[in-house]
Amino acid sequence: MLQQFERYPLTFGPTPIEPLKRLSAHLGDAVEIYAKREDCNSGLAYGGNKLRKLEYIVPDAIKSGADTLVSIGGVQSNHTRMVAAVAAKIGMKCRLIQEAWVPHEDAVYDRVGNILLSRIMGAQTQLVDDGFDIGIRDSWKRALAEVEAEGGKPYAIPAGASVHKYGGLGYVGFAEEVRKQEAEMGLAFDYVVVCTVTGSTHAGMLVGFSADGRARNVIGIDASCTPAQTKAQVLEIAQNTAALVGAGDIVADDVVLNEDYAYPVYGVPSQETVEAIRLSARLEGMITDPVYEGKSMQGMIDLVKKGFFPKGSKVLYAHLGGAPALNGYSYTFRNG
Ligand SMILES: Cc1ncc(COP(=O)(O)O)c(C=O)c1O
Repeated sequence: MLQQFERYPLTFGPTPIEPLKRLSAHLGDAVEIYAKREDCNSGLAYGGNKLRKLEYIVPDAIKSGADTLVSIGGVQSNHTRMVAAVAAKIGMKCRLIQEAWVPHEDAVYDRVGNILLSRIMGAQTQLVDDGFDIGIRDSWKRALAEVEAEGGKPYAIPAGASVHKYGGLGYVGFAEEVRKQEAEMGLAFDYVVVCTVTGSTHAGMLVGFSADGRARNVIGIDASCTPAQTKAQVLEIAQNTAALVGAGDIVADDVVLNEDYAYPVYGVPSQETVEAIRLSARLEGMITDPVYEGKSMQGMIDLVKKGFFPKGSKVLYAHLGGAPALNGYSYTFRNG
């Protein structure tokens, strides 16, 4: 589906799929759990899901003649770290708006983790007081205008690289990659579990897996805590992406988004999320974060326990990255 689109390689290549045998056994071997390690996909600043998306956006940025990538996220945004890394790699400047999306406990929250890495990579980071919202933001528009006023040429990358005309393509590629790996491994996954916030990861997967009738087997676990907006954004991106790649129609019922695990709010882990992070770390040595992957890990574990997946199902957990944010949660994990 993607041959017609230019791709600028930012990743190592196909990401590994590994069985999580001890976690599966811990859950009574009711299902076979595997992880697709998108968190280990690149040497660029610890990698993660945004790079697949940015691979299809960078050619457009270069063609535009821009000299500055301008993007936005929370203070501990993984996405803005990835934009900073990509700007460094392609020789552009980077301006990042970091909004106050998360009420936090750690005194050094805005000094460590993702924002620290972005600063080291030379990005200009601007802290802004506005709260969580996955939509288009005035602060970001202002940053674009400022770059222009200073004589620069900005290239606009929205939050999560999601509401961008090419934002959904990368995760169409994920589905194609999984299909190839399934053929090599001699198995087929019954479900894919994905953490969903700004929406293009889930949306791209929907379009990619719709090719073999598995769109509704992609189980989104909401981590935004604003699920109606997230669900609408997933649908819109999926429909636009389907039209772009020439795939069949995507309808609202194709977007499966579980709202049960995002509490108490975006960026703040519940006690159950913290326990899921500890469990997968202690059984598998696999690190998930309190904002995104810990919530989808909690969701997957709980759904297994509730019998949501029929016995014997093969479940693929998409590990999308995010571990650097853990540095902003040292108080939560002060005793492990
Ligand atoms: C580690 C991690 N997991 C999941 C997501 C959610 O992906 P999306 O914003 O495409 O829905 C993000 C980004 O928002 C992320 O950084």
